[in-house]
Amino acid sequence: MKILVIGSGGREHAIGCKLKESPRVEKLYCAPGNGGISMDAECCPVGAMDKEGILALAKEKQIDFVFVAPDDPLAAGMVDHLEAAGIPCFGPNAVAAQIEASKVFSKGLMKKYGIPTAEYQVFSEAEKALAYIRENNTYPIVIKADGLALGKGVIIAQKEEEAAEALHSIMEEKLFGDSGSEVVVEEFLTGPEVTVLAFTDGTAMCPMASSMDHKRAYDGDKGPNTGGMGTVSPNPFYTEKVAAECMEKIFLPTMHAMNAEGRKFKGCLYFGLMLTPSGPKVIEYNSRFGDPETQVVLPRLQTDLCEIITAVAEERLSELEIKWSPEPCACVIMASGGYPGSYPKGLEIHGLTESGQVEGATVYHAGTKLENGKFVTGGGRVLGVTTKGETLEKALENAYQAVEKISFEGAMYRKDIGKRALSAGRE
Ligand code: AMP
Ligand code: GLY
Repeated sequence: MKILVIGSGGREHAIGCKLKESPRVEKLYCAPGNGGISMDAECCPVGAMDKEGILALAKEKQIDFVFVAPDDPLAAGMVDHLEAAGIPCFGPNAVAAQIEASKVFSKGLMKKYGIPTAEYQVFSEAEKALAYIRENNTYPIVIKADGLALGKGVIIAQKEEEAAEALHSIMEEKLFGDSGSEVVVEEFLTGPEVTVLAFTDGTAMCPMASSMDHKRAYDGDKGPNTGGMGTVSPNPFYTEKVAAECMEKIFLPTMHAMNAEGRKFKGCLYFGLMLTPSGPKVIEYNSRFGDPETQVVLPRLQTDLCEIITAVAEERLSELEIKWSPEPCACVIMASGGYPGSYPKGLEIHGLTESGQVEGATVYHAGTKLENGKFVTGGGRVLGVTTKGETLEKALENAYQAVEKISFEGAMYRKDIGKRALSAGRE
């Protein structure tokens, strides 16, 4: 098969590397891809949101199957567009992708079908939202822009002034554009966070190995939210007992709810969960693989990914048995100095080999460019340095050893990835 992966980050690099292991994959393409991905796939300069351009590319290269990885083309109907032209895809159609693209929709879905999540209210006017927050008078309080906001649309306000400021910038200054026309104001939950990605074709629900993201920019979970600064898999807080409870109360009910709403979800459904004192609750759904969760989950996948994605598209996922390696995996993100704010680009990356790797690790490239045979920085998150180990401790040790070998001016990474996971059972 000739497969085209749409996207340009570390997630797409990890997906491409896994697909390349499949004997069924004859040739791999990526649009637009990045410097590192070009070592593993033929990168084509077509934007991930360019539906006509992607369709033309798929026809020109005689692509058999398209893997749509990022949220925005899914929400914009990339899958609908390609499937209408007879090209099979992995990923939900636009109506199903609303589960991520609209928090007002996903919260309504959970309420209607009794899926555990934080208590909430929806507002379309900043003043009314603020009046509610004042009356409620419980802090912290969580404010979320309705739509897609690059993972930055969630504000946890510690006091009234912060809530007022957040509402003003989201709803009046339109910091996230139309994403902020409505907001969800919800109760603050506590507990360890778990990400569970699941393959689903609307009939079968197959959770993958669990993982834990580290969303804040700095050590000790301080600083602004980012796309994710590192991950570990498995997540030790996610025990078999918790997994069984999530399957019964969250995963299957979500699949059935989407079917009942006429929005059958086919692809990878991302469950962002919080294990609260009163049980697991949904923090967010995403309609796609997580980044950088993919970088630690897919290396542990032992079943042919190409077989799985075609089975999902053909709605015969229940026929497959999906296997996972017991070896833990860790990923440390190396980011540009200044991320998630502004940062320089085009800085040379030292310590990588010609193929963009480093000894003892798999380096997934997120924001790199290849210029005159050299890798340079080209984004906020630059590299995802990933290793496996017999234990999580060992995997983390290996990952940090590999990180030490790589350098670029201003490089930034968290030193405490996996620390909380290692403390599981002692908290
Ligand atoms: P999201 O972009 O929805 O994943 O939210 C970003 C982060 O904000 C999550 O990973 C949580 O750490 C935090 N968060 C979101 N909603 C809540 C909530 N209701 N209570 C506590 N923390 C939350
Ligand atoms: N790592 C969080 C996300 O992909 O949304």
